Amino acid sequence: MRPAAMTETVWAALRALRAGERAILPDPAWTDAARAAFDLYAPLARGAAGEAPFLFAQVGQSLDGRVATVTGDAADVSGREGLRHLHRCRALADAVVIGVRTALTDNPRLTVRLCDGASPARVVIDPRGRLPADARVLAEDGARRLVVQACDIDRPAGVEVVRLPDSAGWIRPEAIGLALARRGLARILVEGGGVTIAGFLEAGLLDRLHVSIAPLIIGAGPTGLRTAPIARLADALRPETFVYGLDTDVVFDCALAPGGNASTSRWPTRQVDAAIAVRRA
Ligand SMILES: NC(=O)c1ccc[n+]([C@@H]2O[C@H](COP(=O)([O-])OP(=O)(O)OC[C@H]3O[C@@H](n4cnc5c(N)ncnc54)[C@H](OP(=O)(O)O)[C@@H]3O)[C@@H](O)[C@H]2O)c1
Repeated sequence: MRPAAMTETVWAALRALRAGERAILPDPAWTDAARAAFDLYAPLARGAAGEAPFLFAQVGQSLDGRVATVTGDAADVSGREGLRHLHRCRALADAVVIGVRTALTDNPRLTVRLCDGASPARVVIDPRGRLPADARVLAEDGARRLVVQACDIDRPAGVEVVRLPDSAGWIRPEAIGLALARRGLARILVEGGGVTIAGFLEAGLLDRLHVSIAPLIIGAGPTGLRTAPIARLADALRPETFVYGLDTDVVFDCALAPGGNASTSRWPTRQVDAAIAVRRA
């Protein structure tokens, strides 16, 4: 495990990398911990090698893999540095995506408050129109707000509706990624909950998965990743993983695509081309 300590200089370098200054390299004068902080976020700041959407997920969980109690208390699962880590992930994204159950139970703001950087666009996947108009995620604050839905329902003024087809209530995660990329939101943080992250993971669309573990045991409650059960450990996903110590939390950085870069082959090529054409227009 590499101890990682973010500094103003390293964060500025990462933000420059994010802005497209590709020559940014770690400074040899940095401490090992500062260099580790750069290495943790650099794949997110670089984004895709090609022009397909770049998707990453972050889940903050307990030692026993829980993200909330049985009553839905989820406010303080991550420690101080785990929360800062989450806000840095948001600041490096164009858009942050959550499932409607997270919006209903946590009523999150999804803004960047614990580091320098702009708040990303906020996206809620709400196929059946369950999200109330006064949800904090839809509040007007200058950031774009989008709802992905499979029904015809009006949303508050200023909220962009992404209407997609569903099959038995499920919208293909590929269609969601491409629809967001077409709207100029190609670097996408999937923040939860477990059902939503699992959908993108099982569709093979995540480039990177950060599992941030805080030293508490909850005992019962929802888990961070709700993937389909497997019978044999031989079938378990075993991504190449890098481990970073962030003082209060430990982050497992899983590289799900070769080199951590998006492979256009995981996206339907014709549709990726269409998304890029729209973004460039
Ligand atoms: N610690 C963390 O990092 C973290 C982060 C976020 C959330 N959480 C916790 O996670 C829990 C909620 O997670 P969850 O897994 O129960 O729910 P969730 O992932 O927040 O939301 C799931 C719901 O979103 C909709 N949805 C998501 N993807 C969809 C798709 N591809 N197509 C159609 N609908 C889709 C569906 O809505 P319908 O039900 O309407 O069909 C689905 O049931 C809460 O306790 C929250 O506190 C923890």
